[in-house]
Amino acid sequence: MRILESKFVQGFIKMADDGYKQGWHERNGGNLSYRLKESEVESIRARLNAPGDWTPIGTSVPGLAGEFFMVTGTGKYFRNISVDPEVCVAIIELDDIGENYRIRWGLVEGGGPTSELPTHLMNHEVKKRVTGGRHRVIYHAHTTNTIALTFVLPLTDEVFTRELWEMATECPVVFPEGVGVIGWMVPGGRDIAIETSKLMEKYNVAIWAHHGMFCSGEDFDLTFGLMHTVEKSAEILIKVLSMSPTKLQTITPDNFRSLEKDFHVELPERFLYEK
Ligand code: 13P
Ligand code: ZN
Repeated sequence: MRILESKFVQGFIKMADDGYKQGWHERNGGNLSYRLKESEVESIRARLNAPGDWTPIGTSVPGLAGEFFMVTGTGKYFRNISVDPEVCVAIIELDDIGENYRIRWGLVEGGGPTSELPTHLMNHEVKKRVTGGRHRVIYHAHTTNTIALTFVLPLTDEVFTRELWEMATECPVVFPEGVGVIGWMVPGGRDIAIETSKLMEKYNVAIWAHHGMFCSGEDFDLTFGLMHTVEKSAEILIKVLSMSPTKLQTITPDNFRSLEKDFHVELPERFLYEK
């Protein structure tokens, strides 16, 4: 199977392009990773490059030992991914202790995987465990409206979740577990990876103050759709706050509770506090 013709590669490229068109990927902003299925690895194995040297990941992910990932390259622009994926994207393989990676395809003009590789892989490790292997996509984008909100809302999971839920009835259905928020940290290393992966134990969305968002999902559509839903809700909230500091009416805690039965979701009571 030609690697570029594989369905997962096509899905990866389309998602990157969709994110770019949303305006979430200025310059090299954002990164994307996909954990390959065993059948996908087998279908392309004959076309992978001979293994090169192992490079430290910068953290330890034993739960992902031996797995293959498609990842965006550090410094690569999302706007170029659909134009020249072999330059912008890599397939990497992890070693049998989950501490090193080697490039098996892509990045033909040189370079390495995204600087956020520790966060991507630590998120994948958590999600593989808590979803029984269902989640395969981790996506980081510089989502304009969500970033703007991190300057004016308290940086708590409770406030962000509740305010975002109130902006569109579908929000508590799309992310019933809520969203996690972390205050400003230096990106690109193990510390922010640890904090983000802790949030991924219970949420599928982690917001990085003054930086962007991470989403996790089963496939490209669900993960992109989640990011899109949160970011649209943030846009509505900004429009509301721009018109008036107070809301004349909104979706109430009891309204949310009545959604639970019909939409088969459980909404944690800690997000349904009285204001
Ligand atoms: P990379 O180019 O290394 O992927 O970094 C982009 C980014 O968004 C860092 O948070
Ligand atoms: Zn970023």
